[in-house]
Amino acid sequence: MDNRELLEIAENARKFSYSPYSKFRVGAAVLTEGGKVFTGCNIECASFGGTNCAERVAVFKAVSEGHRDIAKIAISSDNSEEDKQIFPCGICRQVIFEFGMDIKIVTGYSKGKVFEYGIGELLPHSFTGDDF
Ligand code: THU
Repeated sequence: MDNRELLEIAENARKFSYSPYSKFRVGAAVLTEGGKVFTGCNIECASFGGTNCAERVAVFKAVSEGHRDIAKIAISSDNSEEDKQIFPCGICRQVIFEFGMDIKIVTGYSKGKVFEYGIGELLPHSFTGDDF
C-alpha cells in the first residue's frame, strides 16, 4: 500500500472522530509490516485529560490485537486538505517510538501533497526503555 492510499484511509477514519469540545477531527491509519491496517480517530472526554489522540487509538488497536510490527502511521486532520500538515503530539510521538525507531509518519492530503518523516526525526534524543 502506498502513502497516498494510507492517508486516504486516515481521512475516512476522521469521520468517526468524537470531538464535541475542540471540534477538531483527526483520523489515523497504522500500516503493519504484515500489511494490516488499523484506524483511529480522536476521542474526547468532558474531563479533558481523558482525551485520546487518533494516533494513539490506532496504535493501541494494532498492539491490542497482537500487531506490534508497525511500519507507518498516516494522520489527517480537518485542515490537512488546506495544505496544513498535522504532526503527532509529544505523547503520541513517544508512544509511536515505543514500537519502532524507524516507523514512518505520513501527513498531507491524499489528493495533494504527501509527506513522510521518520519518528526518530520527530523525536530526537528520545527517552527509551534502555535508559533505566
Ligand atoms: N489530536 C489528535 O488526535 N492528534 C494530534 O496529533 C493532535 C491532537 C486531537 C486531540 C484533541 O481531541 C484535538 O485533536 C485537539 O487537540
